[in-house]
Amino acid sequence: PVLVVDYGAQYAQLIARRVREAQVYSEVVPHTASVPELLDRDPAAIVLSGGPSSVYAEGAPTVDPALFDAGVPVFGICYGFQAMAQVLGGTVEHTGAREYGRTELSSGGGVLHADLPRRHPVWMSHGDSVTEAPSGFTVTAGSSGAPVAAFEDVERRFAGVQYHPEVAHSPHGQEVLRRFLHDVAGLRPSWTIASIVEEQVARIREQVGDGRAICGLSGGVDSAVAAALVQRAIGDRLTCVFVDHGLLRAGERGQVERDFVAATGVNLVTVDAADRFLAALDGVTDPEQKRKIIGREFIRVFEQAERDLQADSRYDFLVQGTLYPDVVESGGGTGAANIKSHHNVGGLPEDLTFELVEPLRELFKDEVRRVGIELGLPETIVHRQPFPGPGLGIRIIGAVTAGRLEILRAADAIAREELTAAGLDRDIWQCPVVLLADVHSVGVQGDFRTYGHPVVLRPVSSEDAMTADWTRLPYDVLERISTRITNEVPDVNRVVLDVTSKPPGTIEWE
Ligand code: XMP
Repeated sequence: PVLVVDYGAQYAQLIARRVREAQVYSEVVPHTASVPELLDRDPAAIVLSGGPSSVYAEGAPTVDPALFDAGVPVFGICYGFQAMAQVLGGTVEHTGAREYGRTELSSGGGVLHADLPRRHPVWMSHGDSVTEAPSGFTVTAGSSGAPVAAFEDVERRFAGVQYHPEVAHSPHGQEVLRRFLHDVAGLRPSWTIASIVEEQVARIREQVGDGRAICGLSGGVDSAVAAALVQRAIGDRLTCVFVDHGLLRAGERGQVERDFVAATGVNLVTVDAADRFLAALDGVTDPEQKRKIIGREFIRVFEQAERDLQADSRYDFLVQGTLYPDVVESGGGTGAANIKSHHNVGGLPEDLTFELVEPLRELFKDEVRRVGIELGLPETIVHRQPFPGPGLGIRIIGAVTAGRLEILRAADAIAREELTAAGLDRDIWQCPVVLLADVHSVGVQGDFRTYGHPVVLRPVSSEDAMTADWTRLPYDVLERISTRITNEVPDVNRVVLDVTSKPPGTIEWE
């Protein structure tokens, strides 16, 4: 792999994604990894990412000079560029000329910037500057605050840039990164979706052998793609379990039972547990309480389904849709962990363990979607917007009842239909519809006074759900949603719009 050394800035994962967009496989490694540890992984190239703004900053991580003696191509970005300059004998100085944000770059010559416009914008974020390149390097770009903004030593396959090529604000950045990987480091563009599928299928076959696997489907993208990959590898030795907790949106069960099965031919067991969840939620209004109850019941139902399956044949593997960002955030590490199955239910043998099959452990979300398409999954599944595990249970403010679920399901279906019809599905992150079930307000419909509930539309735009802005939906779309919901959904006489960003609001109301 290409190893992206993470110096603690938020850019490392983005760089790894960009490397993969150049069709070269990459992984993120912490900057605490020693040179022998890095070399142990047989890196095709090493990218030193951005980090603290100064190599002089107290506690700033250092780069071991031995890294440059290993014959491995190295690309330095921002902080990594300065650290590289310093270690190889160049000069880094506090010039006082800081650059933050969009900056004009002048470039020419060399490999990385050949044929690009002589002046083009890049995204900078630095306090110190490289004022002299190490010997053997050619300087190929500069800006007003960074006399040396890019250098390369094609012979030794070293290069670096002061700016951030990975961000969209550097419009030629991807091209520069691609040239480093392909033309300087000499790497072959072989990381394609077809190769990912082929490799994962081979690995799953090797791991599972002639064993059997269980996969819990949530209706979401990750579990669906993971299941489809395993199905491709081991066929009907995979059984999928879908728990219908009765808190799903209109049509979701059908999407799994009909569309997913049609696309994959997978063995599916659906557990209809709506009554059980409703009973457990009876009278509960506290959001955390609801979440705990739903989580607990979910595990119990899943375990029962698993026991029923084990009664017929032995299953040793559990498929999970863990993605690469989760792996990086939980400290990395490769190889399948052995987990103990939840044993909070009487009757489950203490020593029942599953080996995990996690075919998406190396993939970013956008790659997962492309794998899904490659495997023939329908768009409705592959591009499904996020939906919380506790489902509509946390979108009814107040106690959850069958009647209230029916109201919310109808209102939600209308909102989704109209947003889809307006072509807005890709523009919004998601649009929860929330039923204020304990609130009544007065209305009038056809000469009659009504006393119904409001529903809230919560359209948000986001990159990662950590922060979000409320989406400025076109008025005519809002109008259609509002008119239809109040006309078509009994007991709802008011539609209101949530115009709060996150923070301070969360996306969901509970
Ligand atoms: P909040 O409300 O925290 O939501 O701003 C952030 C994102 O996470 C989704 N969400 C959940 N997803 N299980 C999930 O799988 C949950 O319990 C859960 N709670 C919130 C939410 O829809 C949004 O996309």
